[in-house]
Order: sequence, then C-alpha cells, then structure tokens
Amino acid sequence: MTTAVDTTKATDGRDPNSDNRPVPPGSTMVTLKIARFNPEDPDSAGWKEYEVPALPSDRLLNLLMYVKNYIDGSLAFRRSCAHGICGSDAMLINGVNRLACKVLMKDMLPKDGKSITITVAPLRGLPVEKDLYVDMEPFFKSYRDVMPYLITSGNQPTAERIQSQTDRARFDDTTKCILCACCTTSCPVFWADGSYFGPAAIVNAHRFIFDSRDEGAAERLEILNDAEGVWRCRTTFNCTDACPRGIQVTQAIQEVKRALLFAR
Ligand code: SF4
Ligand code: SF4
Ligand code: FES
Repeated sequence: MTTAVDTTKATDGRDPNSDNRPVPPGSTMVTLKIARFNPEDPDSAGWKEYEVPALPSDRLLNLLMYVKNYIDGSLAFRRSCAHGICGSDAMLINGVNRLACKVLMKDMLPKDGKSITITVAPLRGLPVEKDLYVDMEPFFKSYRDVMPYLITSGNQPTAERIQSQTDRARFDDTTKCILCACCTTSCPVFWADGSYFGPAAIVNAHRFIFDSRDEGAAERLEILNDAEGVWRCRTTFNCTDACPRGIQVTQAIQEVKRALLFAR
C-alpha cells in the first residue's frame, strides 16, 4: 500500500491528508520504502512506500512502529528492547545491515529540509517469512553447533572459578555478541552457501575457546575445522563492518584459524 500525503514540514501537529494520524510539530516527512512479502499472497511482493513524520530524536524503529500503528498494521518485523541490546531488529537499511533501533534520524534527516527516502529490506541469506521477518533457525543452528557454553570435566570448585584479569581480557571482545545476525548475513560466503557456519557462530566459539576455565576448546576447534568451518572465510571484513557491537569479528576468526594451526 502506498499512502499519498503532504511531504512538507508539518507545523500544526496533524497530517491533513490522513485519517487522524498524529504528526508531531517540527517533524519532517520521510518516505520509507519497505520490501513487503506476504506468504499468503506471494504475487503481491514488492516495494511499498509510506510517508511518515520523523523527529531528530526518533530512531528508524520509531518510523516502522508508526507505519504499523497508523498506516498498515500488517507490516511484520521483530523488535524488543529498542536499545541495541536484544539484537532482534536487524535489517537491511539503505543497503547496510543495521539495528533499526540504533539508526538515529538526526543522522539521516537532511539539514536543508529536502525530502528523503529510506529503504528497508530483510536480512540477506535467511528465508523471509513475512516482510522484514526472517527465519533465524539456520543462524541459531550454527550457533548451537559450536557448543556456546562452558564445558568442564567435573572438577567443581568449592568457590567461584578464579580467572586472572589477563585471562578474562583474552576473550572480552567476543562476549559482547547479541546474536543479531548482522555479521553472518553480510557475509558473501554465507550468501553463496548457507551451510557455512558464519562469523557469529565463530565469534561465539571464540568466546569459549579462549576462556581459561573451559575444557571444550579442542572439540570446538575440531568442529570449526570442518569443510563449512573457519577455512571458508575469505577475510573480506564485511562482518566486522556490520557488527553493531563493534566486535572485531574478522580478527576473532583469524585467531581461531591460528589456534587450529598452532597450539592455542
Ligand atoms: S571476513 Fe570472513 S566471515 Fe567475515 S564477511 Fe568476510 S568472508 Fe565472511
Ligand atoms: S558478532 Fe556482532 S554482528 Fe555478529 S551476531 Fe554478534 S553482535 Fe551481531
Ligand atoms: S530492538 Fe533490541 S536491539 Fe533493537
């Protein structure tokens, strides 16, 4: 559905062309161009445009919520925390993998008041279930396959498991992962072959492989030595660029490769 509304700057707090949609004073009308797909009507798939008001204090997620609340309630997308923590609202925004709640409108709205169009599409490489909502199961299967939990062999300590600050720092970066899939779905190797473990699974294996308290490193390394494991990585850095947590994803993959080549 495409809505036609006045795209000039709103001043009276009300959109004159719609049925009672709120338009906050000082907002700028933005065109959201969203890739729609309804599995019950696949022939209707395609880009649909929506005119929505944006304030500099909005995140892109607010604009998607506006579409859903006031224009078309059938729009499907995931979101939960709205603060860059849960990792559920990853999508392709202007061709780049981002979390919708971390895209600030103040960075996108033009200073000259000209109209802008923002394109929003589902993550690449995962099956689309509806609109911006993808099937995450292939992604989480790879995650589960690398055993992302502490493995010990029954030597239960009587107090907490002690770890030096240096040992803790060894895997600090990879503890920050929120499993958003921005990295894996920006990886050309994953696009070409979905059976590649993908950077997120390797990051989460890294988090335990280099944990001095863990005893499952050899097993995890053997898993990642597989034909679909770390050797598929072509070091293109797409994953590092895409990570909203700033994790040095490609470096973590290189460290796992080195651990396979030499003693960890
Ligand atoms: S560095 Fe490796 S894992 Fe990351 S995007 Fe490139 S090929 Fe994929
Ligand atoms: S490594 Fe970064 S981009 Fe990849 S899943 Fe974790 S948080 Fe998301
Ligand atoms: S909604 Fe949780 S990270 Fe964006």
